Amino acid sequence: MRLAVIGCGYVGLVTGACLAEAGHDVVATDNDVNRINTLNAGRLPIHEPGLDRVMDRARAAGRLRFTTDCADAVGAADAVFICVGTPPLASGDADLSAIDNVAQQIAAASRSPKLVIEKSTVPAQTGEQLRRVLNVYGRGAHGSGFRVASNPEFLREGTAIGDFFHPDRIVVGVEDEESEKQLREIYRPILERRFHCPVHDSGCPEGRPPAFLVTTIASAELIKHASNSFLGLKIAYANVLADLCERLGGDVEEVTRAMGMDPRIGPQFLNAGLGFGGFCLPKDIQAFNRLAERHGVDFTLLKETERINKRRIEQLMEKVRKALWVVKEKKIAVLGLAFKPNTDDVRFAPAIEVVRCLQAEHAVVRATDPVAMEKARAVLPGVDFAADAYAAARGADALLLLTEWPEYRVLDWKRIAREMARPLVIDARNALSPVEMKSLGFEYDCFGRPDLSSKTTLVSA
Ligand code: UGA
Repeated sequence: MRLAVIGCGYVGLVTGACLAEAGHDVVATDNDVNRINTLNAGRLPIHEPGLDRVMDRARAAGRLRFTTDCADAVGAADAVFICVGTPPLASGDADLSAIDNVAQQIAAASRSPKLVIEKSTVPAQTGEQLRRVLNVYGRGAHGSGFRVASNPEFLREGTAIGDFFHPDRIVVGVEDEESEKQLREIYRPILERRFHCPVHDSGCPEGRPPAFLVTTIASAELIKHASNSFLGLKIAYANVLADLCERLGGDVEEVTRAMGMDPRIGPQFLNAGLGFGGFCLPKDIQAFNRLAERHGVDFTLLKETERINKRRIEQLMEKVRKALWVVKEKKIAVLGLAFKPNTDDVRFAPAIEVVRCLQAEHAVVRATDPVAMEKARAVLPGVDFAADAYAAARGADALLLLTEWPEYRVLDWKRIAREMARPLVIDARNALSPVEMKSLGFEYDCFGRPDLSSKTTLVSA
């Protein structure tokens, strides 16, 4: 099928490249000229493991191209995916101006009937508005030829390629059979596993094929916000548990591990620490809460989730102050700046917020990250950046581990201890073993794992 993808950010690039790998002809467009130039020069504007391989194959097969000209991308397409950003407004509502703008461009550029698919995360009822804009601005020959669908993405940054090819579910919100048929066709290669898997070189593991869920447009829109909000809620719950464990002498990892063995609860998204960040969970929770508020539904639960999450930063700062006594002019090494491992994304990253707090208290920060330094540099003036963890630790009075990159778990911590002026580690992601760190001579603090002597043995079935 001929597909257009509008927006070449994290979602649009992954969606466009993977749909081309699945055999479709994809033209992707973005109004950021630099981004398109970068892509046309064969480089990637984002760090996403495996994306380069998918992109190279799709381009070599002549199934993927990039243009700044939206009309060029949309003109011949049978279906158009809208993947533009929906950033938060000051009110917390999602800013839908880019969607509105793109809808007008699609309407103006279309010469044949099309399926227009919302992939960006949008509040419920956006589909209706989208259809209205398309029809109002496309008054010409095909003004009423637009069909609208919602197909929310559940891609996680860092594992987006695997998530695209091996989803748990594909949700399509439609209002007519034709759209459902078209979306089933678009995703047929994924449902039937007919693609070259960039994640599993020696063949994908057997497993259930993804569920293909057909819903109303409003339900599909709600499913996305409801899923992200619930994930945030789970994390906030684990974080409050960690606080309780600190007061009562429990170990939050032992508690959440046992909880997670109950299939009704599940083990994921129960890692306590510095809280959630990124461009999705925080803004989606805010927008979902605003949506509920505007429709007279009390979703205070989400407000609390937000409040608990924001407080994590201050709770870490309290640990820093307690350990250092005076923060001013102390040298602090920061390991990890991305909002989570395996991405260079620093948008709404808790680590960035922590560095700003340290700067506000006049600490001398030397930070490092395996891939996010370039992006962090742009938002953190006055921070000294170090090439690696050892250089960051040199002469430091404290080291804060803020993003749990796998490489940080296996550092030569003995060497780090030697490099530091004072071997003090505050592990805001519970990534290291308290017992080992103490045995290496570190003063060590983390979230919710205070009692190191009583280790319950958890035997897996
Ligand atoms: C999230 C959702 O997981 C995806 O399903 C969704 O498609 C995506 O948003 C989106 O809306 O586009 P992502 O933002 O990539 O994906 O990040 P997550 O993996 O969800 O992590 C979010 C934050 O939660 C990170 O800061 C992470 O460090 C934190 N987190 C995660 C915890 O603090 N504890 C946990 O147990 C898990």
